[in-house]
Amino acid sequence: MRTPLVAGNWKMNGSRDANRALLSSLKDRLGAIQGVDVAVCPPAVYLPEIAESLSGSAIAVGAQDCSDEASGAFTGELAGSMLAEVGCRYVIVGHSERRERQNESSAWVASKFVAAQAAGLTPILCVGEQKADRESGRTELVVSEQLDAVLDAAGVEAFDRAVIAYEPVWAIGTGLTATPEQAQEVHAFIRNRVAGRDPRVAAELRILYGGSMKADNAAGLLALDDIDGGLIGGASLDAEAFTAIVRAAGERVGA
Ligand code: 13P
Repeated sequence: MRTPLVAGNWKMNGSRDANRALLSSLKDRLGAIQGVDVAVCPPAVYLPEIAESLSGSAIAVGAQDCSDEASGAFTGELAGSMLAEVGCRYVIVGHSERRERQNESSAWVASKFVAAQAAGLTPILCVGEQKADRESGRTELVVSEQLDAVLDAAGVEAFDRAVIAYEPVWAIGTGLTATPEQAQEVHAFIRNRVAGRDPRVAAELRILYGGSMKADNAAGLLALDDIDGGLIGGASLDAEAFTAIVRAAGERVGA
């Protein structure tokens, strides 16, 4: 039985005041939530104070990116060890916004994944196709290329300490959610691909859905066999909406 994970990717949003208000509301609403792992991934500059304010709570902290290097002359980058030191448990790697804007290749994402694990962090590896890929029937090809790069670099057993997030790029921030059937199809594809290397690892692997997941569509997505939680953008900035998604994940009948 896989424990669902609901993680909020705040992206480049927030301020000290807004973060305090959001977190205090989340702590009140979620209390000692059981049966669901919950995390927030704020902008890096706020990580130390947020990790401190959440210590002892049921909400874990993650970063949105990390360097593929351990230390050295890499201006502007943050090492996994630094993120771990200030209290992060998770780190998102390979988000489509970074694959696009920072030109992160699958090989580069794979190195970040390896570096994150070496620092003791749990990577949340994002994969997903563009609209044109889906329309030309290339979804599985694109997702396999992104996934295989990491399987090859890190080895399948590394996925015992990792999470995958399937985020169709056309659904991110657009209000166009994948239908539960579309999402389930790709989640099952991902799990089968990992199972091709190791069925046990695949059976235990958490695969999250991301892309306009909201309070009103979460339950339908989370009810499906291979959807083990969500990576939430916009709705994670709203305590009521995020809490509703966490509750929907808690009600999911696990695989
Ligand atoms: P939205 O929930 O805003 O579509 O963003 C999803 C996402 O990119 C999470 O990483």
